Amino acid sequence: MKTIFFDVDKITRDYLEKQQICTGDTVLLPESMENISQQQYEQIKDAEIISVFVHTALKMNKESLDRYPKLKLIATRSTGFDHIDLNYCKERGIEVVNVPKYGEATVAEFTFGTLLALARHIIQARTDMKNNFVRMNEYIGFDLYGHTIGIIGTGAIGRHVAKLARGFGMDVLAYDLYPNEEFQRIYNIHYVGLDELYAKSDVITLHAPATKENYHLLNDEAFKKMKDGVIILNTARGSLVDPEALYRALTHGKVKGAALDVLENEDFIIHDDIILKSQDIPIDYAMNTIINARLMQMKNVLITPHIAFNSVDAVHRILHTTLENINHFCSGQVQNSVLKK
Ligand code: NAI
Repeated sequence: MKTIFFDVDKITRDYLEKQQICTGDTVLLPESMENISQQQYEQIKDAEIISVFVHTALKMNKESLDRYPKLKLIATRSTGFDHIDLNYCKERGIEVVNVPKYGEATVAEFTFGTLLALARHIIQARTDMKNNFVRMNEYIGFDLYGHTIGIIGTGAIGRHVAKLARGFGMDVLAYDLYPNEEFQRIYNIHYVGLDELYAKSDVITLHAPATKENYHLLNDEAFKKMKDGVIILNTARGSLVDPEALYRALTHGKVKGAALDVLENEDFIIHDDIILKSQDIPIDYAMNTIINARLMQMKNVLITPHIAFNSVDAVHRILHTTLENINHFCSGQVQNSVLKK
């Protein structure tokens, strides 16, 4: 079966070239799906299996998928699959598989990296040092020890964040639709309602998937309920935070700092050329893009381009599972289907 891997960087290429891929006819392309030339397209339009990464600028929807009439499988090299139109895949009989688990430690460690960077002004201090403009009184931070972190979503990543937080000597409050009582007991954390978590946390970190129900979970109402000077961390999905409400909360000092590895409509960071040239970009998308750009200019906001997963160890685990997913599909035993969830 003809298999195309898009978004292939050096680590991915090195790994894949050493592996046996069942499908035989495999093409590795550094480009994203929407960036290929007409000539490349002519060579791959009969693809039966496509593997994409989460940084695909345009949603894999009817328009983009109809370009591949023989497509049978999408193997996304990510846990999240909100970049794929699952309804249309079902309609067309295209199977979609993901990598459900690969890096709870990877994302949790990154989350603490950004928290420490904000708490101790590490990035500002480094920039000032480079510019020969050191102002010692600008870098007074706070200890994590003895402060309270509120974790929203205690799945694989949220639980690892809780373990690290306990290691730092933090008190841990948690909220999940399905509290894990055993975890609560073993790690001495406390499940509370959202309002209590908002009211008592010095740091709030998001680790829930994007759903219709939690769209803009952190909105004006939620920020009002939080402690003054709270720190917000988001390594989950951009849509959990209303960016305008966050911007307002930051300007009024309600939120002291924010570290955002994910943003609503974050694609512009990597694909601004495509987004800005696009004629039919929806207004709310354009507005988001402006707010995101403003957030990026604030010195108490640390924005990273969706890289919390990005360690060599995690990428190798992602590729290992993706190849297993493809090989299982070829032998007629689908694993990690997201259509069945
Ligand atoms: P998981 O599926 O193991 O856990 C998610 C947890 O969130 C579950 O316990 C679930 O009950 C809970 N949940 C669902 N809706 C909720 C709500 N409205 N309020 C509170 N809790 C809710 O997922 P995992 O692997 O821990 O991933 C968490 C998030 O991290 C996902 O959004 C995922 O897309 C994101 N992620 C981000 C990465 C990055 O590079 N920035 C890399 C990997 C995952």
